[in-house]
Amino acid sequence: MKSVLATGNMTSVIFGKRCLQVVMLALGLALASANVLSETVELSEETQACLDCHDKETKQKKIENGELLSLHVSAKAFTASMHKETDCEDCHSDIDGKTHGKVAIDIKSLRDYALGMQDSCLTCHKKKVTEYGDSVHAAMIKEGSQKAPLCSDCHQPHTVLSTKLAGPIEATPCAKCHEDIFKAYAKDVHGIARVAKGTSAPICADCHQAHNVKAASMGSGVKDSCISCHKDAVKQHEDWLPNTQRHFSAISCPACHAPDAKRRVNLRLYDSATKLQISEKSGVPQFDKRTGAADVNNQGLNERALWSLLKEFNQAGDDSKTVLQGRLEVSSGVEAHQLSVKSKAIKDCDTCHKKGAEPFQSVTLTIAGPDGRPLRHGVQNDVLNSLMSVDSVQGFYVIGSTRIKWLDILLVLVVLGAISVPLAHMTVKRLFKNMREKLEAERVAAQAEAKRQAAANEANAPEDNTK
Ligand code: HEC
Ligand code: HEC
Ligand code: HEC
Ligand code: HEC
Ligand code: HEC
Ligand code: HEC
Ligand code: HEC
Ligand code: HEC
Ligand code: HEC
Repeated sequence: MKSVLATGNMTSVIFGKRCLQVVMLALGLALASANVLSETVELSEETQACLDCHDKETKQKKIENGELLSLHVSAKAFTASMHKETDCEDCHSDIDGKTHGKVAIDIKSLRDYALGMQDSCLTCHKKKVTEYGDSVHAAMIKEGSQKAPLCSDCHQPHTVLSTKLAGPIEATPCAKCHEDIFKAYAKDVHGIARVAKGTSAPICADCHQAHNVKAASMGSGVKDSCISCHKDAVKQHEDWLPNTQRHFSAISCPACHAPDAKRRVNLRLYDSATKLQISEKSGVPQFDKRTGAADVNNQGLNERALWSLLKEFNQAGDDSKTVLQGRLEVSSGVEAHQLSVKSKAIKDCDTCHKKGAEPFQSVTLTIAGPDGRPLRHGVQNDVLNSLMSVDSVQGFYVIGSTRIKWLDILLVLVVLGAISVPLAHMTVKRLFKNMREKLEAERVAAQAEAKRQAAANEANAPEDNTK
């Protein structure tokens, strides 16, 4: 744009008397033409030699599984790319000049080839490779996924442009694999703001990161990125939402900001000692096996089944105490991307704090799978009412949403205490603690009884076998 204008004005400036301007213009033009030149001649001889054969559109080769590998690398696109100063052989170091092109190389599938080539990025982009290596996508590839993205799925190495250019939102590499989520995002408050206002509104990578992508419902990564832009969020909610931090840690932001979404309670298996979600080891599928056995008819785990499952998990580790940690979230990935304007967000306390409240009608149990993504199993919703499970549901209890009257009363007192007199609060806390201790004692007694039963059964078992 600038250089076109400058050329148009050239004559008038040259015939004018502003020497300095002339000098500057000449300099500018010289620089501009140097730039143009640099874009055409900078390819090394070696690279040019490769392109002599490969810059031909018709070239392709049939590989083992029948797929076609295009051999075409456009010299024009390569010269315009961020890799224009990188030689072909910097990445294709395994090419043998003597036999290349004459002796066919076996390639199993396009995926296999791209996977093999991925290591070539390491030399120059170590940091990105490390970040990516830690991601849910890379973990999926380790677990054998054919669909999770490699570097080259998101960056075509021969044509890659600067990632700082703000393209149309459809151009984000995430869209082609997460199509449904992209469609939802494009219509939500951020997608619309992104198109209207540009990069100040987030796109996929701003909330999930581009390389170190983690499972979205795990940890607090996504929430932290919301708050990194909406710095006043906590303060703004404190104006009307008591105990905001507590709500923020027990409820995912979309559960209130995607007003039309269906909500559910997610009970996460959680290690109360390490304060981490329990995760399944690679190659040792316990979760599906155990939940399957505990819920043969697949109707959702009932109270007893859930309780004995917890016990099984607790027996596995010595120091660990596996508990359940509740979290309120939307029931699908698509719904998490239907965020709406603030006036539509859920503000009515009754949405959650009333008996039979909608979010408590659907319950799932999750563990972190071997690739970091959650594995789920359905739970019958009346489990939330059971005393037994309340004991293990740490830090998650909603007043009014369950039938346990005495807990409701206690919690109302806690709330009143928190709002009015700290002293009352203390008393209630002590009361609550006593109640918990009593519960714990009951639980231990029940466990002991169960153990005694189990021992008795075991003693009988050999006799049964010999019959
Ligand atoms: C920055 C690293 C890099 C550079 C530079 C590079 N390539 Fe590649 N190339 C790759 C990767 C990675 C693949 C496999 C993944 C894919 O298919 O995109 C590949 C694949 C290919 C293929 C197979 C067809 C295809 O597109 O998948 C050909 C042919 C090829 N490169 C030729 C070249 C030529 C010729 C040059 C130099 C002009 C070059 N490459 C420069 C990384 C590079
Ligand atoms: C004389 C022409 C010619 C030149 C020069 C040439 N190639 Fe090739 N290239 C071929 C042909 C033909 C094939 C297909 C070979 C086959 O069928 O297996 C090929 C295949 C490839 C492939 C696909 C994977 C494979 O090995 O089959 C890559 C990558 C590639 N060339 C990169 C390069 C690079 C990088 C250079 C420069 C160092 C280069 N080529 C120079 C002709 C050439
Ligand atoms: C020999 C070094 C080298 C290798 C190998 C290499 N790159 Fe690059 N890459 C560069 C250079 C130089 C740039 C130019 C911009 C810069 O300094 O980051 C670049 C830029 C990029 C960019 C754009 C960065 C931006 O600023 O927006 C991406 C994306 C990229 N490379 C991906 C890859 C991928 C994927 C691979 C492996 C297939 C790869 N590169 C291999 C040297 C390399
Ligand atoms: C799931 C898609 C995806 C994958 C896989 C991916 N990237 Fe990226 N990459 C992006 C996006 C989106 C950006 C731009 C936004 C950003 O940097 O956060 C980016 C940016 C980059 C940049 C420029 C960053 C900068 O700060 O200048 C480089 C270099 C890069 N990627 C290299 C790689 C390499 C190497 C790999 C493989 C180890 C890889 N990427 C894998 C999506 C991806
Ligand atoms: C080549 C295809 C592909 C690309 C490109 C891709 N993904 Fe994925 N991604 C997958 C697949 C397959 C899964 C596993 C299935 C699923 O959860 O949808 C996955 C899973 C995820 C997950 C974990 C899901 C969970 O349960 O929490 C997140 C988050 C994610 N991707 C975000 C991104 C982001 C952000 C980008 C762009 C920077 C991106 N993906 C680009 C294929 C891709
Ligand atoms: C219990 C429901 C609830 C939860 C959980 C919640 N919000 Fe809100 N949020 C609201 C409501 C309701 C409003 C509108 C308040 C008003 O305008 O009076 C709002 C307003 C906002 C606003 C606009 C603030 C302003 O005044 O401009 C932002 C930004 C926001 N929330 C972000 C978040 C983020 C980020 C999270 C997660 C960490 C979150 N919210 C969790 C209900 C919730
Ligand atoms: C404003 C931030 C934000 C943006 C932008 C965003 N996401 Fe998400 N994403 C989230 C939140 C929040 C969740 C739900 C996390 C939770 O359960 O707490 C989520 C969940 C996901 C999941 C997991 C879905 C599942 O099945 O559990 C995937 C995959 C995903 N996002 C991909 C994307 C892709 C692809 C884009 C771009 C089209 C994108 N996200 C844009 C915030 C965002
Ligand atoms: C990259 C910065 C960024 C991130 C990350 C981000 N937002 Fe936003 N958000 C914006 C911008 C910009 C707007 C548009 C504000 C406007 O229209 O002026 C917006 C708008 C909103 C609104 C509508 C506010 C209103 O006034 O009606 C809500 C609600 C909101 N964001 C919630 C979230 C939540 C929840 C997350 C995380 C899941 C999140 N945001 C992540 C930048 C961000
Ligand atoms: C989207 C559902 C939802 C909405 C809306 C909601 N809450 Fe909550 N609330 C919860 C959940 C879940 C907890 C349990 C948090 C925990 O135990 O960690 C909770 C806990 C509480 C607590 C107890 C905090 C403590 O210290 O134990 C109070 C008080 C409370 N909410 C008041 C309110 C009020 C007042 C409103 C309306 C202004 C409201 N909530 C709106 C879901 C909600």
